[in-house]
Amino acid sequence: MNGGLFITFEGIDGAGKSSHIDTLADAFRARGRAVVLTREPGGTPLAEKLRALALNDPMDALTEALLMFAARRDHLQQVIEPALARGDVVLCDRFTDATFAYQGGGRGFDLDVLAGLERWVQSVPGLPAGSIRQPHLTLWFDLAPAIAAQRLAGARVPDKFESQPAEFFARVADGYARRMAAEPGRFARIEADRPREAVGGEVLAAVRSRGWLD
Ligand code: TYD
Repeated sequence: MNGGLFITFEGIDGAGKSSHIDTLADAFRARGRAVVLTREPGGTPLAEKLRALALNDPMDALTEALLMFAARRDHLQQVIEPALARGDVVLCDRFTDATFAYQGGGRGFDLDVLAGLERWVQSVPGLPAGSIRQPHLTLWFDLAPAIAAQRLAGARVPDKFESQPAEFFARVADGYARRMAAEPGRFARIEADRPREAVGGEVLAAVRSRGWLD
């Protein structure tokens, strides 16, 4: 496959996704693909400013969701769409599933409003009528909240989300599970409760099974 590829990495804080993004990038580069590594919220100067606000300042769930989607819109326009148009592989640490999981599941915010924002923000030129930009594949690192909390403990100063209680992360995990149930073809569930090499193997297998690392 030579067209652009958009792959996102999701999971609750502490699920361990970040360490596997570089490995997948290396696998694509070894096959001659140009890779863009990026993250949400963030990925552009403006979106990084919005990230600092969203992750540190107290605010209500709608404000939080609007900041996430404002950052996403800028990120799509400045980075993701141009990269996909060039035929690059875009590996993005979190995307809209995180908004459904954290603001929707964790905070209990209205999913219909999020779906409306998703449609607005991810409407970009050049797609078939009625469709919006979505990842070609989402790797969901599924890990029990209690284990994720153990992994995070003492690792660093927690941000606004990382300091949430276990119940919050149970709701976030449910939010991810619902997103996967709604669009099973887009997701690969990675069992993140395994040794690092095994998890890395799962990631590569999920991508390879789609014929993208041949
Ligand atoms: P994360 O991606 O885990 O980065 P780091 O490893 O640097 O902490 O942190 C981003 C946080 O933002 C994470 O707690 C999830 C949260 N988040 C949302 O609440 N909504 C969103 O739409 C996105 C993209 C992230």
